[in-house]
Amino acid sequence: SKIGVIGAPFDKGQRKEGAALGPSSLRQSGLIKHLESIGCDVHDFGDIDYQPTREEGTVKNVRNMKDVIAFNEKLSQKVSQIIKDGRMCLTLGGDHSIGVGTVHGHLKAQPETSLLWVDAHADINTPVTSNSGNAHGMPLSFHIKELTEYQPEIPGFEWHSPMISARNIAFIGLRDVEPYERLIIEKLGMCALSMEEVHGIGIKEAVKYALSRIDPRNSRHIHVSFDIDALDPLEAPSTGTPVRGGLTLREGTELLRSVHRTGRLSAVDIVEVNPLLGSASDLKITLDAARHLAAAAAGYYPGGWAPKGVTDIP
Ligand code: ARG
Ligand code: MN
Ligand code: MN
Ligand code: MN
Repeated sequence: SKIGVIGAPFDKGQRKEGAALGPSSLRQSGLIKHLESIGCDVHDFGDIDYQPTREEGTVKNVRNMKDVIAFNEKLSQKVSQIIKDGRMCLTLGGDHSIGVGTVHGHLKAQPETSLLWVDAHADINTPVTSNSGNAHGMPLSFHIKELTEYQPEIPGFEWHSPMISARNIAFIGLRDVEPYERLIIEKLGMCALSMEEVHGIGIKEAVKYALSRIDPRNSRHIHVSFDIDALDPLEAPSTGTPVRGGLTLREGTELLRSVHRTGRLSAVDIVEVNPLLGSASDLKITLDAARHLAAAAAGYYPGGWAPKGVTDIP
């Protein structure tokens, strides 16, 4: 498959430094070479070039919002361009506030898109409901049409408008959802599969059910925003907000492979890898997990494949 990779080295959407080093450590770990080795035509578009300001820039309770806005405006344009070029866009984060730009850029290129948010967290706080003021807990709220009237006006953010309905979004992997986030999910009747539901019906059924809810006619493009903290911390320890009881790596790869098989997966984000957290072996485990996720999104089949055009054993 044809893949465009873009690095989103940004970590101002929360308070721990390091997620901005995600793209370079993921590249160093051989993620792109691995995709090529499994037969993908990969074009690496490099990193978004943006120097954060030094000022704190809290706007309407959102910390560093000026930087969040400026970074994501660039990222959105890049993602749009890659998708219009006919490649699946793989964005390497960065903290999850980069979901502001990836989802926006995707929806601009392909308005008929459904979104799978794979995460321990719902990231659906508005600037008003957020207790932390961290933008990485808010990206979904900015995209949802039904939440328009609850959004404060944020200067500089006019380029961004909500472009997706709550009915076209599903969560998988939730296990740390704040009360006002749950209220929003219930009010909007969203498809939210927590770890309890995943455990109950299994990952295959969970993905099938989520897709049937957000794309009932099997016709829409699909965006998967995969927060590495959806995986259990045993599988992906180097991340800023780990929560026990998460997906196994096998469940994560199964999820992405299932979505790949629809033939309509057109963008994937892998976010919240923080190389400054945990030991060297923690980091290796986390980077390995991310590489496996990327390969699964590209359709990698663990049973292997025979050489192309060869039918006889030499
Ligand atoms: N719900 C919390 C908040 O609003 C945590 C969000 C964690 N998000 C993430 N992308 N890891 O701050
Ligand atoms: Mn190329
Ligand atoms: Mn997240
Ligand atoms: Mn998370």
